[in-house]
Amino acid sequence: MYGMVNKAVEDMVCRNYGAPTWKRIKEQAGVDTEVFLSNEPYADEVTYRLVAAASELLGTPAANILEAFGEHWVLHTAQEGYGPLMRAAGRSLPEFLLNLPNFHSRVAMIFPQLQPPRFECTDITSRSLKLHYFTHRQGLESFVVGLVRGLGKMFGTPVTVDLAAARVSGADHDVFAIAWEQPTP
Ligand code: HEM
Repeated sequence: MYGMVNKAVEDMVCRNYGAPTWKRIKEQAGVDTEVFLSNEPYADEVTYRLVAAASELLGTPAANILEAFGEHWVLHTAQEGYGPLMRAAGRSLPEFLLNLPNFHSRVAMIFPQLQPPRFECTDITSRSLKLHYFTHRQGLESFVVGLVRGLGKMFGTPVTVDLAAARVSGADHDVFAIAWEQPTP
């Protein structure tokens, strides 16, 4: 994954726990990269090792770390670094979700070696939809939950996200049942 992902993990940990904790997490993960370069691809393994080490050192399940990371990604990394791209993708939570299947093709213009996930929306009503998530990577479903919760916060829209079908339980791919309320002013 591009270095911006590892940088975002670093940013989240440093904001919430401080730089010395990040240093310990890197040591524990056996990652000796001093500075992650945003535009450089790194082995996925590096990100997985950092998340596993953070989970161990902070005594928090990896799923919770990934969920917090999803929120952080939307509310800080994406909004602060890619504001125009985020704004172009929708003016409300449902609009943004319906545009999600095309979202990373625009990201791939900036990061040509991107290996993005694929999304599909089905069962669309005015208050809910099913989001289908396809990826060759394992274990990132909690990241998606956090991303969607982050989008809900970004739009001031209360949202619930439930894993309706899970690859770990034998489903072909993960499916999230997402429901939202009117935005709170
Ligand atoms: C400006 C905003 C965004 C940027 C720049 C961005 C960029 C990226 C990058 C660089 C990766 C790592 C993949 C790689 O390097 O090959 C990634 C992965 C991912 N992105 Fe985005 N992304 C953005 C927003 C979103 C949003 C809003 C969602 C969904 C709600 C999302 C869902 C994911 C997921 C689930 C992955 C994990 C990879 C996988 O599942 O295989 N991203 N994205």
